[in-house]
Amino acid sequence: MTFASPKANQHALYPGSFDPITVGHVDIVKRGLAVFDRITIAVARNIKKSPIFTFEERVEMIRETFADEPRIEVVPLAEGLLVDFARSIGVRNVLRGLRAMSDFEYEFQMASMNRRLTEDVDFVFLMTSEEHFFVSSSLIRDVAMNGGDVSEFVPKCVQKSLQAKFHSS
Ligand code: PNS
Repeated sequence: MTFASPKANQHALYPGSFDPITVGHVDIVKRGLAVFDRITIAVARNIKKSPIFTFEERVEMIRETFADEPRIEVVPLAEGLLVDFARSIGVRNVLRGLRAMSDFEYEFQMASMNRRLTEDVDFVFLMTSEEHFFVSSSLIRDVAMNGGDVSEFVPKCVQKSLQAKFHSS
């Protein structure tokens, strides 16, 4: 019995909306770097949910968060299918984070559909640390918008951007 070359595991694609990036995302990247040599973070430009941060702002906050990590690259997720984008950059593994059962349902559907679309790309799921299980970009937006303290849940640069976005006057 033979298996694919281990080299296929060296590079992973981590796609998402990241509106904004949270400590949960950072945790998944950190865990991902223990498995993969490098990770390309692909930021979706047009997301169904209307984003509070522009595409450029979301990319910039992620770049700043990982400024000291040379194994991370941040790129736009090209229009079209995720699996086609992964293939176009020669990545076999798509990394996604899992928090609770609610994530599982959504991720299971997406991964199953993507698997029907191509056999060339696989989905790799890593579990977020328990202390981040309840952290989501949507909750962060809501708490920040209503004046709550989100410093524990987002990188420093995101905290500043949220402050500027909602409470700059
Ligand atoms: O952070 P999100 O919003 O959960 O990320 C979702 C994302 C960007 C990974 C997903 O919407 C996606 O893959 N979009 C690309 C278009 C695509 O391939 N759609 C079919 C998915 S089965």
